[in-house]
Amino acid sequence: MTTDTTRVYIFDTTLRDGEQSPGATMSHEEKLEIAGLLDDMGVDIIEAGFPIASEGDFAAVSEIAKNSKNAVICGLARANVKDIDRCWEAVKHAAQPRIHTFIGTSPQHRAIPNLTMDEMADRIHDTVTHARNLCDNVQWSPMDATRTEWDYLKRVVEIAIKAGASTINIPDTVGYTAPVESAELIRRLIAECEGGEDVIFATHCHNDLGMATANSLAAVAGGARQIECTINGLGERAGNTALEEVVMAMKVRGDIMPFSTGIDTTKIMHISRRVATVSGFGVQPNKAIVGKNAFAHESGIHQDGMLKSADTFEIMRPEDVGLTETNIVMGKHSGRAALRSKLKNLGFELGDNQLNDLFVRYKALADRKKEVFDDDLIALVTDAGSDGDGHLEVKFLRVICGTEAPQSADLTLRVGDADHQATAQGDGPVDAAFNAVNALFPNKAQLQLYQVSAVTEGMDAQATVTVRIEEDGRIATGQSADTDTVVASLKAYVNALNRLIVRREKTGSDAKEVSYKDVG
Ligand code: KIV
Ligand code: ZN
Repeated sequence: MTTDTTRVYIFDTTLRDGEQSPGATMSHEEKLEIAGLLDDMGVDIIEAGFPIASEGDFAAVSEIAKNSKNAVICGLARANVKDIDRCWEAVKHAAQPRIHTFIGTSPQHRAIPNLTMDEMADRIHDTVTHARNLCDNVQWSPMDATRTEWDYLKRVVEIAIKAGASTINIPDTVGYTAPVESAELIRRLIAECEGGEDVIFATHCHNDLGMATANSLAAVAGGARQIECTINGLGERAGNTALEEVVMAMKVRGDIMPFSTGIDTTKIMHISRRVATVSGFGVQPNKAIVGKNAFAHESGIHQDGMLKSADTFEIMRPEDVGLTETNIVMGKHSGRAALRSKLKNLGFELGDNQLNDLFVRYKALADRKKEVFDDDLIALVTDAGSDGDGHLEVKFLRVICGTEAPQSADLTLRVGDADHQATAQGDGPVDAAFNAVNALFPNKAQLQLYQVSAVTEGMDAQATVTVRIEEDGRIATGQSADTDTVVASLKAYVNALNRLIVRREKTGSDAKEVSYKDVG
């Protein structure tokens, strides 16, 4: 940590608060990849997960801790010894470990563990002390701080500071606060709490009223020096503060927000795309900083202005966030070296085997599509539905469709080690293909979301399909891209089922997953 009072630490919780949002589950490998990207981008603290939640969470946090380079690796723990010990077991492998323990302090949250105010205060003292005996970097959060009575908040913050917490995080758990309040609360805590000037205050905002970014920046104005956020604002309900928004706001408006972060902003676009793909939560086109339209200037007046001078309508340059121009990439005669170099420019470094596999798929795409754009390549490289690592793999599909129902699908699907074949009918080709999968792999999953979007423009554009399914409370999301929408739909469905199978293994009857909302 630095003595520079203008330095704001970026605490990323994409892998904890973001990943716990229903449907955003990531695989072990995906979590490691995202953690590596966050570390490379210059995130100061990575909240890698909630180790007591499941064996999978524990393994991911431990592995991320072992692989960490510069970032502090943090794990979440409720206010009890078992959670804190488990958290320490996972984060202790990091060069710089941190335990983050919390308890709900508002009247609404105090009612759940059925503790009196005094009993809760004692619990905070005991658990922070316990965490501090294990790890010299402890963060404490009064969950729902913004709805906690001022006197009680001040009292418990002082207890946590005395017990050894060096970071006090002030969560706006339900996205209730407003910028003026956010700034004032932090300012008062620093000024009025004993020891308040010796610790870092953090802000952790949810976006229920669309004010998460504004509230986080206001908290910084009030004296907070750590912002908790996620890539793309991923998170439950309306999400968390978006990392890219607070970082770029401080960079672009340094005149009124003279703060710095350690983030290499040119890495933002790549990590945003990866998080969107692995979480299955796409980015809305008009999302600030990372939306597809964020730097598009379509109207005639805008284009004219942009041609004369880019700053007419642009307050930041696309390259500042790592956005490269959407050039036509290569023809179908381009070789592996050109593909490797183009992918490197887009932020993807592939091993030889991965490149060979991708090259075959690239050639197939170039045969079907006149022009292959950067976005096509990104869709190809991130196409989770086409990997053969899952329990299920699509081998062959033929659909018969026309104006007369029913439509039918012939499908060959690898299930485990063997190929199986089925023909099924349905209300449309996608329904028929899904029914064929269900005939070969019976399951109770309900379709929650089916979404198709075009990767680029033109009649031969690839479609990216996202499918979200639910079975016994487990939610899984799959994605795939193809020039054929039915093929993309089928692969996305199979990808979602593969993820569901992993979740079933993780959360079988003897391995119940714990949520941070369960009172510990
Ligand atoms: O929103 C919240 O209160 C949280 C805590 C666990 C910090 O995520
Ligand atoms: Zn939260």
